[in-house]
Amino acid sequence: MKIPYSLLVALGTTHVVQVLADSCADPSQAVPVFRDFNHAVGDHFYTTNNTEYNAANSGGYFPEGPRFAVFPTAVSSTTHLIRLWNGDAADHFYTTNTSEANSGAAGGYTIESVTPMFVYSTQLCGSVPLYRSWSPTNRDHFYTTSATERDGETGYTFELIAGYVLPLASGSSSASGNVAVGTGGSTPGSASDSAPPPTNTNSSPRRSSRGTWLLSLLFICTVL
Ligand SMILES: *[C@@H]1O[C@H](CO)[C@@H](O)[C@H](O)[C@H]1NC(C)=O
Ligand SMILES: *[C@@H]1O[C@H](CO)[C@@H](O)[C@H](O)[C@H]1NC(C)=O
Repeated sequence: MKIPYSLLVALGTTHVVQVLADSCADPSQAVPVFRDFNHAVGDHFYTTNNTEYNAANSGGYFPEGPRFAVFPTAVSSTTHLIRLWNGDAADHFYTTNTSEANSGAAGGYTIESVTPMFVYSTQLCGSVPLYRSWSPTNRDHFYTTSATERDGETGYTFELIAGYVLPLASGSSSASGNVAVGTGGSTPGSASDSAPPPTNTNSSPRRSSRGTWLLSLLFICTVL
């Protein structure tokens, strides 16, 4: 049976697009995200910016250390994790969904552009889900890569996966080693708030077989 050339070209094009879309960002460019918690107002705050982290820690927040890693610029396959702040609710809110961010901005939140964070929108390249929970009592969004923490945070309800982030290397305070910041030390607060970051899982590479498949397909197209 002869397979139509146009079909093979179409298949090849699909795969070229998919391979490009699935390409991994350079993990050495990822930077750790530090987590802060303010018990008084009930706010979890996440930043990659050490100046902000230190300022928050001098202003009522407790440092909870690096938790996961994101990209500081829009690299392959990533999307902007938009940061918003609502002073009335004392809530930091992070979303990749622009319509949700715009609704937030129309409803008391301010979009903050300082130190942007970029995350994978699908689970690629060894990334792990970043779970988002909400506490109506605290009026607080909580983000974690730990399912144990997600399920153990009293008063919070899991909402959705906010994006896919890189886990921190086990025993390291930084994903890339290029940001020299302490881990924040001991943290008061609930048991779940001081749980250690999760260990690295699901880091198997997945590009090589697809790349080989693509090369074979291009070869077949060329031969035909
Ligand atoms: C984005 O947010 C809007 C408004 O909250 C919602 O209707 C929509 O389903 C969301 N889109 C995705 C892809 O989650
Ligand atoms: C870090 O935060 C400080 C304080 O908000 C800000 O002045 C500075 O520009 C930020 N740095 C980066 C790289 O965004």
